[in-house]
Amino acid sequence: MPPNLDQIPRERLPALLRTMPKAELHLHIEGSLEPELIFRLAQRNGVTLPYASVEALRAAYAFTDLQSFLDIYYAGASVLLKEADFFDMAWAYFERAAADHVVHAELFFDPQTHTERGVPMETVIVGLEHACRRAHAELGISASLILCFLRHLSEEAAFATLEQALPYRRHFIGVGLDSSERGHPPEKFARVFAKCRDLGLHVVAHAGEEGPPAYIESALDVLKVERIDHGVRCVESPALVQRLARERMPLTVCPLSNVKLCVFETMAGHNLPALLDAGLCATVNSDDPAYFGGYINENFIQTFEALPQLNAAHAWQLAANSFEASFVPEADKAAWRHELERAFEAEQPR
Ligand code: HPA
Ligand code: ZN
Repeated sequence: MPPNLDQIPRERLPALLRTMPKAELHLHIEGSLEPELIFRLAQRNGVTLPYASVEALRAAYAFTDLQSFLDIYYAGASVLLKEADFFDMAWAYFERAAADHVVHAELFFDPQTHTERGVPMETVIVGLEHACRRAHAELGISASLILCFLRHLSEEAAFATLEQALPYRRHFIGVGLDSSERGHPPEKFARVFAKCRDLGLHVVAHAGEEGPPAYIESALDVLKVERIDHGVRCVESPALVQRLARERMPLTVCPLSNVKLCVFETMAGHNLPALLDAGLCATVNSDDPAYFGGYINENFIQTFEALPQLNAAHAWQLAANSFEASFVPEADKAAWRHELERAFEAEQPR
C-alpha cells in the first residue's frame, strides 16, 4: 500500500474511486441489457415483450428477493437470438466499463437461458467472444468469459451444457454457478464441477447471497471454488470468516445488487466494511447493472457515500483485491498494481 493514504482528503474520494483502475469479476452479461436495448433487439428480432414501453419495463424493476429479479431477468434475455445481439449487448457493457476505468473484466454468461430457447451455443459464445476481442483491441480492456450453470436446473442439464460448450473451450476460462440459490446447494453440482476442474477450467460459485454459510463451505469443500460470488452471509459464522481470511479466498461483493434484492435493507447497513476489516479479499462489482441501478463506479460511489468509515485505504484495498482475485498471469496483476499506485500518487497532497 502506498504511504500517506490517510492524507487524501475525503472530498477527493469520489474522483479517486472513479478514476482508479479496477477489475470487474462479478458481472452477468445478460444483466447489462438496458431496457432501451431490450426494446431495440425485440423490434429487430420480431419478439413481443409483455411490456408496452421502456418505462413500463423499468417500472417492473421493483424486486423483493432474488427470484423476483430472476423472473424479469430471464424475460429480458428472451430478445437475444443472433450472434450480433450477443455482440451488441457485450459491446455496450464494455463501453461503459471503459468509462469506469475497468482494465479487466471476467464476464458471466448463462448459456442455458439461450439454448433452452433454441439458440445455438455457438451463437452465444462466438458473439460474446467477438466483443471481448474487440474490447481488448479498441478499448484496452482485458476480457474473458465464465460459463455459468443455472442451479435451478439439474446436474444432468449442466453436463449437457458443458458438452455443448466444449468445442468452444478456448473461448472461456472457467465455470460458475448462478440463479436461484435457496434449495439448490453447491453439492448438487459436485460431479460436473469435478469434470470442469479436470479440464483445467477455473471454478467459482455464487454462495451466501441468500443461502446460508453452509453453502459457502460446500462451495469451498465440495466444488473447490477459487472465488465465492457474493458470500456476504459468511459473517454469520465467525469460524468461516477466519477461514476465508486465512485462505485469502476472494468474495465478489455486489453492494447495489444486495440492496435491490433485499439482502441488506439499506446501503448504510451493508457489511462491506466488516468484511474488509476482517482481512477478507473482498471486491466491489456490479452483478446486473442494468437492473440494480448502476455500473461498477456507481457501486463504489454509493457504497462509500453510505458508509463513512470507508476511506482511501479501503478504496486502495478493494482495487488491489480485484487484481489479486483475477484469473490472469502475475505479470498483468503487477502492471495494474503499478497503474493503481500512479492513480493514488496523483491524489497525494504535495
Ligand atoms: N444471483 C444469482 N443468480 C444470478 C444473479 C445473482 O445475483 N444475477 C444473475 N443471475
Ligand atoms: Zn451474480
